[in-house]
Amino acid sequence: MLPDATPDADGTTAPPTRERSPVERVTLRADLRAALPDATAAVVLTAAVFVFFWARMESGDSATVAVMPFMDDAGRYWMYLLSQAFGWSGLLWAWGTVMLGLLLSGPRPSRLPVSRHVLERWHRTTSLTTMALMFAHALMFAAELVRYEAQLAWAERLWAGFADTFVPGWYDSGTGRIAIPIGQGALYLAIPLGLLFYVRHRIGANAWRRLHRFVIVVYVLSVWHTLLYGTNVWYGEWPRTVLWLLQLPVAVLLLLRLLRPARRAERLGAPGRREGGSLPGWVLRAAGRVAAAAVVVGLLAVVASGHDGGRDRPAEPPASSPHAPESG
Ligand code: HEM
Repeated sequence: MLPDATPDADGTTAPPTRERSPVERVTLRADLRAALPDATAAVVLTAAVFVFFWARMESGDSATVAVMPFMDDAGRYWMYLLSQAFGWSGLLWAWGTVMLGLLLSGPRPSRLPVSRHVLERWHRTTSLTTMALMFAHALMFAAELVRYEAQLAWAERLWAGFADTFVPGWYDSGTGRIAIPIGQGALYLAIPLGLLFYVRHRIGANAWRRLHRFVIVVYVLSVWHTLLYGTNVWYGEWPRTVLWLLQLPVAVLLLLRLLRPARRAERLGAPGRREGGSLPGWVLRAAGRVAAAAVVVGLLAVVASGHDGGRDRPAEPPASSPHAPESG
């Protein structure tokens, strides 16, 4: 979620030593300070989403309650609602920071409303905020589990909440057996892939750049986790359609970034040419471009056909729920 290096104006790469002098080096501390305004905006948005979910529960429109009728008590399940709200602000910030990253590493738009330097800073700060929101989402879920397991002793309650939330494979109920490890994968990958930027002078700019591009996997896992598990997008209704639609610009920018990367060294070229690398490497890179194009077509098909994996809202509440804690 951090900028894919800083190519020179002609798209070539400056050697790492010329990139920035140590005096100018961007530090985590400075970026954390710079992230305060957007982190504040994220908290305000989270609060608004929380109020919205609360109001939907009170009015009887909550999809979460339709999926899990026992949850029809906003006052009792407020931590769950807050976890959902952090999940949404986290996903929105992830969307924004990925879009900024793709803008920076893909073909240069002829005119930008702000300088490249500002875009880079926004990319870094929104990326830090995203990680914090993802963590807050998981933490509030753990807190809800701890609250819920009131019949256990404190040590067991704390362990149950921690393990179900943070230990891959521990959560063993319903869709969560798949969806929770996917979310954990996103969270656990986001942190190193995002923070490695701040030690790139140690690991080398090239190693950092190679690793950082896998950050798109974090985003894909986050969206997959949400489509699979989010009760507010459980049914084939407008929120699910909007979620699918939001993926279109990301897929288009990803395709453009692969077809016309800002860094000349990443251009595909003809197979066998020196800059294209080995033939198998060229085939792999070409396949990546074809896959990105297929994703764009797939997204268009999903949105146009309405076959978006959403269930029909049942007339009667279901007897069992997909990821409720087992008892109560
Ligand atoms: C330790 C990792 C994670 C755990 C334990 C976890 C847990 C959960 C749970 C239990 C739900 C279902 C809530 C519901 O009833 O709707 C959920 C939904 C969701 N999660 Fe995660 N998650 C994790 C990581 C992530 C990450 C990295 C993101 C990316 C931002 C994310 C975004 C979301 C979103 C947007 C929803 C939908 C909430 C709703 O429907 O209102 N989660 N997650």
